[in-house]
Amino acid sequence: MMKKELEKLKNEALHAIEQAINSKETEEIRIKFLSKKSELTQSMKQLGSLSKEERPAMGQFINSIKSSIITALKEKQTELEQNQLNQQLLEEDIDVTLPSVSIPVGSRHPLDVTVETIEDIFIGLGFQIKEGPEIETDYYNFEALNIPKHHPARDMQDSFYFTDDLLLRTHTSPVQARTLEQTEKNEAIRILCPGKVYRRDEDDATHSHQFMQIEGLVVDKNITLSDLKGTLEYFIKSYFGSERDIRLRPSFFPFTEPSVEVDVSCGLCQGKGCRTCKQTGWIEVLGAGMIHPNVLKAGGFDPNEVSGFAFGMGVERLTMLKEGIEDIRHFYTNDIRFLTQRLSEM
Ligand code: FA5
Repeated sequence: MMKKELEKLKNEALHAIEQAINSKETEEIRIKFLSKKSELTQSMKQLGSLSKEERPAMGQFINSIKSSIITALKEKQTELEQNQLNQQLLEEDIDVTLPSVSIPVGSRHPLDVTVETIEDIFIGLGFQIKEGPEIETDYYNFEALNIPKHHPARDMQDSFYFTDDLLLRTHTSPVQARTLEQTEKNEAIRILCPGKVYRRDEDDATHSHQFMQIEGLVVDKNITLSDLKGTLEYFIKSYFGSERDIRLRPSFFPFTEPSVEVDVSCGLCQGKGCRTCKQTGWIEVLGAGMIHPNVLKAGGFDPNEVSGFAFGMGVERLTMLKEGIEDIRHFYTNDIRFLTQRLSEM
């Protein structure tokens, strides 16, 4: 092939490259002008027929044509890619000033927050967390807790029955009875049992047919009422604040003797008396007492060897008192405005 023809071939290739509008076309050009069967490659093969003097110059010439075509192709490819990117950027125009789409994030339920806060306080005192079944037998819910059939104390905790013997537990105290039964009789017990309980109570601002309690149980040698008082005082001050006081009032529970109601000094009036505390300066928060000998016996413990205390509190009530929530029904109606409020411990 003559130099002139090669020059023409080069111009033809460069022109085609210039006209190409996509990579499919540049690929076709590459095949046409640079592949093995292309005229250019063929002309390389014909170099052998030239004289020794002519051969190097011609070889160089062909190579320079080849490299101009390769360079032009590369440049075109870059140009095409850039165009495509620009086009894409134009089409996928993003307005960074638009408000973002917010992703809703859940929050912990206020009652879970209370349970976890109280668990942490008691874990710090060496208590273990224990749970029990919500469907309970008459034996663990009542009998093992010194509440025999037909005892008037049952009236205070009417339940939902499945059968004569199977009911929704009315308090977390059956976990006491179960734990006593399961524990080796030479071992000490320090447990905290949170959970749901059920009663046939009329629903109003402070009562619900389903609510939560947290039970505490301590059994060891030489446990006294002052251990009970010290523990609960530590708990109340940790939960409500160190400025709050507690007082114990005599009460009655069939499974404790003596039994007490524990009051906390009113946080609103600092104990002076206001509407919230009904002018008394005190608010009732939980029931407690020394474990009744019959309960220890039912669990296989010897009341002459060991003693213990127990307490039970309403989780809703504690949360309402701490956070100033006026109606217990807020906890269950799933109003997102209520549930997403940040409570003090969250
Ligand atoms: C008991 O349930 C005893 N088992 C507590 C106890 C345990 C005493 C261990 C001694 C030793 P009481 O019935 O008072 O006690 O209930 C305890 C708490 O549950 C109450 O102070 C109250 O905060 C809550 N509570 C009771 N009934 C309801 C209800 N219907 N709705 C919401 N909270 C309730």
